[in-house]
Amino acid sequence: MSEILFSSAWQSPSNIALVKYWGKYGVQLPSNASISFTLSECRTETTLEVLPLGQGPKVEILLDGESKPDFAPKIEKLLERVKSDLTWIDDHHFRIHTHNTFPHSSGIASSASGMSALALCLCDLHEQMEGEKFNNFFRRASRYSRLGSGSAARSVFGGLAYWGKHENYADSSQEYAVPLKEGVHPIFQDFCDTILLVHRGSKDVSSTVGHDLMNNHPFAQQRFELAGKNMAVLKNILASGDLEAFTQLVESEALMLHGLMMSSLPYFILMKPNTLAIIEKIWEYRKQNGAPMLFTLDAGANVHLLYPASIKEATEKWIAAELSGYCENNSYICDHVGNGPSRLTK
Ligand code: PMV
Repeated sequence: MSEILFSSAWQSPSNIALVKYWGKYGVQLPSNASISFTLSECRTETTLEVLPLGQGPKVEILLDGESKPDFAPKIEKLLERVKSDLTWIDDHHFRIHTHNTFPHSSGIASSASGMSALALCLCDLHEQMEGEKFNNFFRRASRYSRLGSGSAARSVFGGLAYWGKHENYADSSQEYAVPLKEGVHPIFQDFCDTILLVHRGSKDVSSTVGHDLMNNHPFAQQRFELAGKNMAVLKNILASGDLEAFTQLVESEALMLHGLMMSSLPYFILMKPNTLAIIEKIWEYRKQNGAPMLFTLDAGANVHLLYPASIKEATEKWIAAELSGYCENNSYICDHVGNGPSRLTK
């Protein structure tokens, strides 16, 4: 075992987009602005060790102690992209120990939590090794996260975070995410997200392929314009706490994302029959009970059920009784809006 010169450990959460990022250009720059809730329970815990240059691969990755050489290309790509800033990268080898708090192959993408945890470690190591503080540590970490996986840029901040230039959002940037701190109704500060695990296997089509298909998509221009409008409308909804308007906008965004997949060439479908069965159940329950609950989807078959903390108890009972049967092995994860990443003590 080589001597460890420096090390850093961070945990970082996953996030769920309300207005979706789908389509990119250049080096991971988004075709439209997006905004998400940062989660709490679905996290990646990562330790990054800096080793002297030696034999063997540049990066060794251990997931729960098990070597994962297939993760290396994405991580090496991130290192390539940041090394003009972090010039020490070329002179070292790296060992990464990583652990996801959510079950392996749950169908929950670990790229947002994983890449943001790694980017935070890189920023921290830079400060340790060069003895200089970044002006805005988290903004820098968000930019590096984005270079690993676009949506990871938003995981660096707790609560709500937006990414992509938009005139209604202060300091918004294509390069990094910014937390939405002002003008958020208290109801959104502890919103719940139960992730119903419909399909735990890996996706048939990666989000990289999906983003690329937006390049020649017949509805690309309309989509990017509409996403911009939705961002503007959502900002007012987030301030007012209007859950009816929130429901309509967020569900429409989720279905539009999947509509874009279904109208790409080649077209593809990531939803499964039970995805639709759950959506119908949610709509039926909402109609009968007037419960302020709604769904969203990311690029997969799992359903995120969103609801205010005030109806948590009743909703969790209903999920166990009525929805868990549609989930693979009856499994789901109860998560909620969280405070963002934190440093782990070594
Ligand atoms: O960060 P990526 O390249 O895995 O893209 C994620 C895209 C969505 O999850 C579908 C939407 C989003 O904004 O997170």
